[in-house]
Amino acid sequence: EGPEMFAPERANSKGWDQTHRPTLAAIDAARGAFRKHEWHNTALNGESHEVRNPADPADLVGTVTYATEADAKAAHAAATPWSTGDRAAILNAAADAYEAHAEELFAILHREAGKSLPDAIGEVREAVDFLRYYAAGSRDEGNTGTWVCISPWNFPLAIFTGQIAAALSMGNAVIAKPAEQTPLIASRAVELLHAAGVPTAALQLLPGDGSTGAALVTEPSLAGVAFTGSTETARRIRASMADHCAPGTPLIAETGGLNAMIVDSTALPEHAVRDILASSFQSAGQRCSALRCLYVQEDIAPKLLTMLKGAMDTLQLGDPWELSTDVGPVIDEEARASIADYVATARTEGRVLHELTTPDAGTFVAPTLIEVSDIDDLTHEVFGPVLHVATFKATEVDHVIERINAQGYGLTFGLHTRIDDRVQEVMDDIHVGNAYVNRNQIGAIVGSQPFGGEGLSGTGPKAGGPNYLTRFAPKGAERTGT
Ligand code: NAD
Ligand code: ALA
Repeated sequence: EGPEMFAPERANSKGWDQTHRPTLAAIDAARGAFRKHEWHNTALNGESHEVRNPADPADLVGTVTYATEADAKAAHAAATPWSTGDRAAILNAAADAYEAHAEELFAILHREAGKSLPDAIGEVREAVDFLRYYAAGSRDEGNTGTWVCISPWNFPLAIFTGQIAAALSMGNAVIAKPAEQTPLIASRAVELLHAAGVPTAALQLLPGDGSTGAALVTEPSLAGVAFTGSTETARRIRASMADHCAPGTPLIAETGGLNAMIVDSTALPEHAVRDILASSFQSAGQRCSALRCLYVQEDIAPKLLTMLKGAMDTLQLGDPWELSTDVGPVIDEEARASIADYVATARTEGRVLHELTTPDAGTFVAPTLIEVSDIDDLTHEVFGPVLHVATFKATEVDHVIERINAQGYGLTFGLHTRIDDRVQEVMDDIHVGNAYVNRNQIGAIVGSQPFGGEGLSGTGPKAGGPNYLTRFAPKGAERTGT
């Protein structure tokens, strides 16, 4: 049976015009007015936890109460699926509320997650799109249960909301565990969802670190787990579910990638450079979809790399709120130190082709190009503005595709070429969830570009696509497909 097609009543979120002075003034005023977000749930028994701005650790953004392992058990006992009520109307009302509070959400995303304004706008739009898209797909398929939704810090509103909206739209109860770096935007989102009419027993927020997530996924009665984060954590969750949960309990895991792009000698260099820059360095490279390994055909490599280095030199690092900033900070000091160590090793090996200067204060990593001979040289996903570059000969395209497929991940892929037959051949052969031709490889749009990976990058079904909700249906009603 094929996917059930559906479309939201309203088109995707229209966004905010960053060239319109009054719009920008309203966004700036909301940011100025925002001081701190406090979220303290007296039902939770963990410590109060401080959240600080990654660009300026002296800036206290807010505090949140953590959940304990006992709270995780209590949340499962209290969780109540919502079989009644107009769920679609409530999720649509939540989408409207997100839009109505967008300026405040931008401010929290900026201060807590170091998001630039364009990235914060993109994030709120994607969250709103998920709410409306899954509201449109909402249906009753009988016995619902409790889903645990565990999300990462890099899309702390969009992915957090998408998982929850999908599970709720099918009538399940949700226990949501946001990333430890970004509990404040999650808590504000949950306040808006509750105010829109989602019952508090149908949606519970459990802030905490990985141990809270680990405690939540040992509950034998859970209906399923929606997880987005690293492949390593997904493995741990799968192992824990195998030990504790009923056989067949679904795990939707959307994980990392070693994403490649091929630029052949027929590509338009100006076009390719623009798309390489966006794919690698936008959001400071902190997107699962980001380009990690660029393959450039040998005969155009000198010219293309010269242009790429020149384009990199125009990138501004700094306060992500400034419209002139292209690359903001990475999420925290631990991330900064680990990426800086990686680059330092490549530097001592003489493999750094180009790097910008890192600001002294804040958790910044300068965009860097590192030479490799093949994608096999990438030992792990470096989650920051670091791009690896390899060259290939005209006769080696098949070999390059083979290497990309062989490394096990399969999230995004990019191709720049002006040979139509090559597009067809490469698209037929490449094993990834999302492949893009003659454009950048980030920023999938809910509804029109369902997003998700293959192999080590994810289980499917793709988020923001017609098959996703079927996984949240009770087991008997489940259908397969990606
Ligand atoms: P992470 O795996 O460290 O953490 C993700 C979440 O899992 C957090 O909420 C964390 O507290 C929780 N967690 C940690 N250990 C756990 C455990 N043992 N049991 C249960 N929960 C646990 O990932 P991250 O650093 O927050 O996010 C970055 C990663 O996410 C990157 O690998 C990136 O590629 C991936 N990602 C994938 C997608 C996608 O759609 N494929 C989207 C965004 C991010
Ligand atoms: N959905 C996000 C993107 O496509 C991760 O960049």
